[in-house]
Amino acid sequence: QGTMRINDKGHLEIGGCDVVDLAASLGTPLYILDEALLRQNCRRYYQAFTGQNENDLVLYASKAFLVLAMARIIQDEGLGLDVVSGGELAIALTAGFPAEKIFLHGNNKSAAEIRYALRCGVGRIVVDNYYELELVERICGEMALKAAILLRIAPGIEAHSHSYISTGQVDSKFGFTMENGDALRAVKKALASPHFELKGVHCHIGSQILELEAFRLAGRVMMDFLAEARQRTGWTAEELDLGGGLGVYYSEGDDPPTIEEYARAVKESVADKCREHAFPRPRIIVEPGRSIVSPAGTTVYTIGSMKDIPGIRKYVAVDGGMTDNPRPALYQAKYEGIIANKAAEEAAEVVSITGRCCESGDMLIWDLPVPRVEAGDLLAIFSTGAYNYSMSSNYNALLRPAVVLVLDGKADVIVERETWGDLIRNHRLPERLL
Ligand code: LLP
Repeated sequence: QGTMRINDKGHLEIGGCDVVDLAASLGTPLYILDEALLRQNCRRYYQAFTGQNENDLVLYASKAFLVLAMARIIQDEGLGLDVVSGGELAIALTAGFPAEKIFLHGNNKSAAEIRYALRCGVGRIVVDNYYELELVERICGEMALKAAILLRIAPGIEAHSHSYISTGQVDSKFGFTMENGDALRAVKKALASPHFELKGVHCHIGSQILELEAFRLAGRVMMDFLAEARQRTGWTAEELDLGGGLGVYYSEGDDPPTIEEYARAVKESVADKCREHAFPRPRIIVEPGRSIVSPAGTTVYTIGSMKDIPGIRKYVAVDGGMTDNPRPALYQAKYEGIIANKAAEEAAEVVSITGRCCESGDMLIWDLPVPRVEAGDLLAIFSTGAYNYSMSSNYNALLRPAVVLVLDGKADVIVERETWGDLIRNHRLPERLL
């Protein structure tokens, strides 16, 4: 996908940059971000939503990956941002992102974060629960302002990669429960407050969803709710935010819908219900994270030690692991990869890729067919753009890798590799230990 190819040296090339050269100059592990593919995904989303209905809005979900350069690209491409913390908000604002195109999410925002967001003039605060409804109201009172809000609702749909169930998911920490009347009470409460401008509702049914039917169901359930709310209160919602969740290809068997198919499914399900309830079509908002940035990311590692247990398995260790990509350890996520400096060679053995952390669970890929590998070879793992850098850690006092943005043969570091100094910077030695 994207600008990836095998060049005439038999090396993997991304964005016109030879991955072997990038590794030599910038070191490994290294996250490589393909700017052309990233922008293309943004444009496809923009076209499929805002391009068709100028009121509709695509918010990139920062949690997938947000650094200054990323915020600039998202802004460039005309998308808004979904942030979930003061930290994500600070990154966005530091990059110069327009506050009115930022939505603040989160199930436990602090008073300080809410004040910060209101002071900066964020577009919407997505209120998650009663505690927060009261907190935001109190803060608006103190600041003598009115906040434009959405209410997050748990629509009782849980979507998995390959299946979904439409009942039962009342047991979620996020949002006002729809089934027991909580959500409707929250609507009434918000409408009654002079400090809120209730714009609409929000839901997010899950992530890495590969079936459109789950999204259609969410659209229908939420529209039914809005129709009911209108009947009970006379309030006509202007906005329906359906969250993110579109899945991506990671490994064999993953067959995600395209961005365009997703957009069509979402919009049709809302339109059908608008017709049924004679409800004015709300502004549709979506919050994709993974499907924008995941395919644009590749991680490159250097291969080091190997352990062959004849007849059982050959372990091949790389210089990163669960610290830069915790997803296999956390979710049994499957990835594909190739040997970047032997990209044109035939597979000769099957190996299992392990990280360098002191954990048996620190595996990146089980049973990967590769050419004959030796220490010093480079392993490239694909589709690591989302929830890798953003979920990385310093376990074992390992350093977070650099992130390099590649485009047309140019490579720009957008996050420097950490140093041991970074690790120790916040440590303090009390006087009695000196
Ligand atoms: N909006 C809300 C309110 C969300 O909670 C999320 C993701 C998104 C949007 C973006 O969803 P996406 O389009 O990226 O699926 N760490 C996990 C994923 C957690 C997603 C949490 N919420 C992983 O690595 O798979």
